[in-house]
Amino acid sequence: MLLTSLVIAAASLAVEVAAHGYVPQIKIGSQYIAGWDVNTDGYTTPQPLRVVRPTKPDSGFISDPSSGDITCSIGNSKLPPGPISATVAAGGSVTMLWNTWPLGHFGPVLNYMAKCPTSNCSTFKGDTGSPWFKIQQDVYANGVWASDTLANNNHSYTVNIPSKISPGSYLLRHENLALHGASNVGGAQFYPVCVQLTVTGGGSLNPSGLSFPGTYKATDPGILFNVYQGDAANKAYVAPGGPVYTGLN
Ligand SMILES: *[C@@H]1O[C@H](CO)[C@@H](O)[C@H](O)[C@H]1NC(C)=O
Ligand SMILES: *[C@@H]1O[C@H](CO)[C@@H](O)[C@H](O)[C@H]1NC(C)=O
Repeated sequence: MLLTSLVIAAASLAVEVAAHGYVPQIKIGSQYIAGWDVNTDGYTTPQPLRVVRPTKPDSGFISDPSSGDITCSIGNSKLPPGPISATVAAGGSVTMLWNTWPLGHFGPVLNYMAKCPTSNCSTFKGDTGSPWFKIQQDVYANGVWASDTLANNNHSYTVNIPSKISPGSYLLRHENLALHGASNVGGAQFYPVCVQLTVTGGGSLNPSGLSFPGTYKATDPGILFNVYQGDAANKAYVAPGGPVYTGLN
């Protein structure tokens, strides 16, 4: 009897953890590449090398944008990433395949990149200086939040890699920002996911200027926001992190 309730309690905890959503797989062209599976990868010895940065202990959200976890998800400051990357051409795309994303966790989908200072990203945390620049964002269109569009699109979202950035190693920071509880300070839920990329081709542009942590403040109008005020208010929503960097393509 006790054992049965323990098993049920453990099972419901596992469901709750998984329900937050994470990125166990990405797709570049026709190639599927393993991402970070929170249910297995963190519990495997030796820890598998993945192109998606680990998040530990689960896929839970970050609620404090000044936390060191805001850069590349929970554990950014603790976990050594693997020295591997996924190769993508400048002007190409990377599709993020979330395991799930709940409808009604309304918010924008925001995408940034930062060039790694070494030939691979394995020692680059991206949490100091201002190496980041915004490459793409989807907010609210035709009465639908970008998060719901992602959920309706088989929990997938395609990030376009700028055509004019210089070739080399980059972190791609892809983020779901859930605002369903964001009408109070601390109520927004950040789900950043970082992918280690090698960008080929491209041009000579080397953008930067944003910091994680640093760029986001808990009281930014795009972070402290009531999503239940209706269509006009949602249309006026301004995402945090400023506009997409100009001249990327
Ligand atoms: C939905 O995405 C998963 C991977 O995340 C994939 O295996 C599946 O084939 C996709 N389904 C459709 C209908 O595209
Ligand atoms: C990645 O870079 C680190 C630090 O520069 C280096 O120690 C490591 O050998 C590199 N790994 C690969 C696979 O290039």
